[in-house]
Amino acid sequence: MSTKNEVLKLLISKSDEYISGEYIATELGVSRAAVWKAIKSLKSEGYDISAVTNRGYKLGEGSDIITPELITSKLDYELEVLCYPTIDSTNNEAKRLVSGGREDVFLVTADEQSGGRGRQGKSFYSPALTGIYMSLVLHPMKPIYSAVSATTAAAVAVCRAVEKLTDKKPEIKWVNDVYLDGKKICGILTEAITDFETQTVTSVVIGVGMNIRTVQFPNDVENAASLNANVKRRELIAAITNELCRIANLPSSDYIDYYRSHSMIIGKRINFIKNGVVTPATAVSIEQGGGLTVRLDDGELLTLTSGEISIRRI
Ligand code: BTN
Repeated sequence: MSTKNEVLKLLISKSDEYISGEYIATELGVSRAAVWKAIKSLKSEGYDISAVTNRGYKLGEGSDIITPELITSKLDYELEVLCYPTIDSTNNEAKRLVSGGREDVFLVTADEQSGGRGRQGKSFYSPALTGIYMSLVLHPMKPIYSAVSATTAAAVAVCRAVEKLTDKKPEIKWVNDVYLDGKKICGILTEAITDFETQTVTSVVIGVGMNIRTVQFPNDVENAASLNANVKRRELIAAITNELCRIANLPSSDYIDYYRSHSMIIGKRINFIKNGVVTPATAVSIEQGGGLTVRLDDGELLTLTSGEISIRRI
């Protein structure tokens, strides 16, 4: 991690007190000049850092920090928010808490994930402080088949939140990747906890990872970009949570038109991958329940309810 982000992390962990440049330098094993340079750079990025002689530095409310209080103050719903500086995966933590007996609606966020997970067993690159990594736990108590719509709802909630807070025009790549200008900025991993006896989904963990200011991605992360908007991570987290809580229990007919109008694949040539087999097709329409109807090259129509697709370059 860069010295700048190390300094930011330290300021966040001590956000209710002043800490001296000397303390920061000793903690991080760097020079006072390096600390000063990092503070200057953070300020130029818009971080509100006050400096007081003989006391040191302190982060102000205007900074892009995430705390339970700052998020709950923007929520329309009453739920507990747990914020971690670093965790393996917010989805893992949410599932651990549910396994431990939690039955309420709650939100887990992290500034960084050491083992962020994506769909299909992939990893999700989750560097410190430049993205949002959040998992909302809901308890739909619905039959398994109807809980699938949470996946569609999550993509709608993310796009609506982005449109509410920024001037960006996000698009949805079926089933729930969010794109901006042809590049992926957000991935969603929805995991269900089911009761085998009653065949109901007792809890659903909706994990959202969005690149906000990540500049460099590892080579194996393909076609990724960042939102790059003047918005605070906590504002987006709260807006996504509000939107998700609002629509999660609505029938998909309430938001499927929005989903359709933001779909970037209708009419496009795609490949869909099911059980490791790649099949070329054309994306035709999004069904009421979120399924994707495709036309195979022999003319047959098929509705996909899960799996991965990729858009073909012509
Ligand atoms: C994907 O792109 O395949 C889905 C990525 C989902 C990433 C989010 S980040 C918060 C939550 N915790 C995780 O480990 N994954 C999800």
